[in-house]
Amino acid sequence: MSLSDYLQQARKTHTAVGHFNFSTADVLRAIVEGAKEGGAPAVMVGTSEGEADFLGVKETVALVKAMREEYDFPVFLNADHFKSFEKCQEAIDAGYDTVLIDASKMPFEENVALTKKVKDFAAGKAEVEGELGYLRGSSEVQEAVEITPGDYTKPEEALTFVQQTNVDRLAVVFGNIHGILTKQEENLDIEHLKNIVAVVPDVALVLHGASGLPDEQVSAAIKAGIVNVHFNTELRVAYTKGIEKGLHPPAGGKPGETTPYKYLGPAADEVKKVVIQKVQLFMR
Ligand code: G3H
Ligand code: ZN
Repeated sequence: MSLSDYLQQARKTHTAVGHFNFSTADVLRAIVEGAKEGGAPAVMVGTSEGEADFLGVKETVALVKAMREEYDFPVFLNADHFKSFEKCQEAIDAGYDTVLIDASKMPFEENVALTKKVKDFAAGKAEVEGELGYLRGSSEVQEAVEITPGDYTKPEEALTFVQQTNVDRLAVVFGNIHGILTKQEENLDIEHLKNIVAVVPDVALVLHGASGLPDEQVSAAIKAGIVNVHFNTELRVAYTKGIEKGLHPPAGGKPGETTPYKYLGPAADEVKKVVIQKVQLFMR
């Protein structure tokens, strides 16, 4: 089954496939194990440009291939928020299964043109996601991020965008923000999402920036038509806290641990717990 097949199946069952970011092999393994043990039918794993540069695109592809085989589980590798044709080309040539060409900061016509160029190049090789709307914030802990309805994906533009680019998936904005906010509530506008679904019922709609959202809001978005949900910051926080605990254990633990797998292993286990909880949420 292709990634699109899994997303179509998710649409029929009002569930979603998870997308989780990684930049190290231990976190990738935690995601794959978590998705499989959590009962997900498949999982998407993704690297941003920064994450891919850190790990290397060829190394990333090789690791995903190895884990797919080792766990006998469908794992799809996504180039996440890649901003240029050249970066998408590099990822597709290296063997990524899919790319998100993120030209959402460009004027509409330029976004269409670049997305279409990537879609044409990817034909027969990889699936392509486009993005429309202003998705603010970044995958870290932030105090507050201003967002207005003017940032949201406009339904009429979504229709034109999908018709002109023929993308496999569309990342949409309806109150979602990248990252976790400490001094502001994140609120999805589910009615706005329904207006988007009504005009583009056949494209797979993607919720980015799910970290920090209450479970009920993620569920409501899935019930309204989202079939793919992206998490990054919550995994980063779990991993980092786990490493800090491993390096500076509470009283009774061994201080000054210098064996990487001894402090990284428990940190990756924390990531796995997050993934299990999320994939089970997507199937509720
Ligand atoms: O593409 C990645 C996701 O949209 C991550 O968003 O850091 O808010 O979970 P998040
Ligand atoms: Zn994103």
